[in-house]
Amino acid sequence: MGHQVRDLARELKRFLAAQDEDEFLLTAAPSRAAAVAPAASSKTVPGSLPPMAQDSTLEVDFPRAAAVQPAATSQEDLTVKKADKTRSLDELAQVIKSCTRCPLGATRLNAVPGEGNVNADVMFVGEGPGFDEDRQGRPFVGRAGQLLDKMIAAMGLAREQVFIANIAKCHPMTDPLHPEKHGNDRAPNAEEIACCRKYIEQQIAIICPKYVIALGGVAAKALIGDAGSLGALRGKFHNLHLDSVELQKSVQIIATFHPAALLRNPNWKKDAWQDLQMVMDKLGLKGARK
Ligand code: URA
Repeated sequence: MGHQVRDLARELKRFLAAQDEDEFLLTAAPSRAAAVAPAASSKTVPGSLPPMAQDSTLEVDFPRAAAVQPAATSQEDLTVKKADKTRSLDELAQVIKSCTRCPLGATRLNAVPGEGNVNADVMFVGEGPGFDEDRQGRPFVGRAGQLLDKMIAAMGLAREQVFIANIAKCHPMTDPLHPEKHGNDRAPNAEEIACCRKYIEQQIAIICPKYVIALGGVAAKALIGDAGSLGALRGKFHNLHLDSVELQKSVQIIATFHPAALLRNPNWKKDAWQDLQMVMDKLGLKGARK
């Protein structure tokens, strides 16, 4: 056991070597980096932010389902595998935190690699960090994150049981000269997604979850393919194929609404709940449709 994860670790090393080349090219072409705002004066946020106030508009009608325990295999196997995966993900997170492959590297406060259970059955992938995530270096910790937590709980899972990441690892801003402004978020563009693609692909390959849930059109199109609209991708499982790495076992992906979209359009929640129930059905989570 462990050889698959070791193969992935080798793959990761090859990827890191390739990235050095990209970094060299970026340094050799400084005009690209100079086109964006100067880097924030510090990469760390002084002091920690107070916890987000609970927002009553986040109260949702996702029913709560009971959690199920994962099937047990040999304890020793699980421990070794987990250590390998944790090491590979930590190494990758370090690379992400010092990444300057695209201009977002110059304007972020903190890169947001992702977090969660390395042996998760379910992985959620959003589009990119927002204001709060940029400050905390953690995915989905703002208002949309509070709703995502409720969606996860409604599935009968805890946040600690799943892995949460984004397509883009740094905060895309409409006005990078004013990172302190609220409402300054935008979706990552094609160049930023291309620069970050290998990171999310490596994360998925290392974790190798049973199901990926793509949150919103950006994540769905990046991972499944551009079928025109989120609606064309929702409502069915797709076999996940990655560009840069081969998966050790088949991973299914399903698309649903981004929690931020659900905050804006609460009447889409019932459709999102249908999507989540499709995954719950497959995992045998209680509370799924009969
Ligand atoms: N929106 C996202 O897509 N990701 C986050 O981490 C937060 C908000």
